[in-house]
Amino acid sequence: MVYVSNEILVTGEPYTPGLSRSYVAQRYGFAPEEIAKLGSAENPLGPSPKALVAVAGAFGELDLYPSWTAERLREKIAAKYGFKPDQVVCGTGETEVIACVIRAFAKPGDKIVMYKPCFPIYHIFAENEGRVPVYVEMGSGFEFRIDHYIETMRSSEARIAFLTNPHSPSGKLMSEADIRRVCEAAGDTLVVLDEAYIHFTETEGSLHLVRDYENLIVLRTFSKAFGLAGLRAGFGVASAERIVPLLNIKPTWNMGCAQTAGAAAALDDDDHIERTVAMIVEMRGYVAQRMSALKAFRMVPDSRSNFFLIEIMHPALDSTKVFEELLSCGVIVKDGSVSFKGLGKRYLRSDVSLQRHMDRLVDGLIEIERRVA
Ligand SMILES: Cc1ncc(COP(=O)(O)O)c(C=O)c1O
Repeated sequence: MVYVSNEILVTGEPYTPGLSRSYVAQRYGFAPEEIAKLGSAENPLGPSPKALVAVAGAFGELDLYPSWTAERLREKIAAKYGFKPDQVVCGTGETEVIACVIRAFAKPGDKIVMYKPCFPIYHIFAENEGRVPVYVEMGSGFEFRIDHYIETMRSSEARIAFLTNPHSPSGKLMSEADIRRVCEAAGDTLVVLDEAYIHFTETEGSLHLVRDYENLIVLRTFSKAFGLAGLRAGFGVASAERIVPLLNIKPTWNMGCAQTAGAAAALDDDDHIERTVAMIVEMRGYVAQRMSALKAFRMVPDSRSNFFLIEIMHPALDSTKVFEELLSCGVIVKDGSVSFKGLGKRYLRSDVSLQRHMDRLVDGLIEIERRVA
């Protein structure tokens, strides 16, 4: 076996992505455009048009090294949200910022607190880097159980504590009061607030709390509401002192000129965000109403995101069975038992998307329900 810094790099759990349209089209004989791709929480309205123009404009700079800090984007983010550029770090997707945060602020062996279930990248990266994930079970209805979270964060002497707002995979929204409670109890623990899906909550989010708490970093992505998952851009906002180690640990020229230009232009595209959020909010209501007629399945209520959990009520079904059956109907969702540690066999996560995709999902569930009745 090759020498590795940590065995888990060979034996550990790899990331399981949502399936692609082309894979399902080939396996089941659908035209790719027919498929309802509901497993990756992408923007069904596509990329910000302003970003597309800016990315094309960046091709003229492909021969030059980009700014190693993505200065233009840092400045833009800082101006938009009322910070200084030295309070911003950019990454090739939020995922890269998460990796840098873990490496910069926790040593091998240090504890990192997170909810179970949560975005799997938190524990995959923690384990790959030899850090130790500490899990806080959510309530049976995906309640945040903040007292328990705080108690675990303190008793484990965690270096880092992840929060996701709105939460993935449940879509539940944590109150600002609860976020403040965690920051106030955290002391030397760094609180990482992941706001990847914040636009869909129709709130401003909690970037402003960075002004109140030195132990807080807020992360956001261009992959979701901005529609730029393929471009790879995300960022973190914190005190300038927190950003220095992140700049030093990130791969030097991590942001290419196309990423920087596209993301900077997308930040100005309020129309695209408004169109996207309005469609998601409308379709969230639509799919909730259609799902309410089902008996074998139920929508876990109160998602404020662009996805929701489907709970399987029928005892003869489990998440892997339903996942496979939906694939054969041309519907891609996430099998909770594969994609989210601790979620078990009774849940699937589906995106909120265009009406024709929501209809295909619910029609597929109706067909599965009919077969087991
Ligand atoms: C909660 C959460 N945070 C972060 C990300 C990653 O975003 P990015 O595409 O910017 O790496 C995702 C992606 O699905 C996510 O679900």
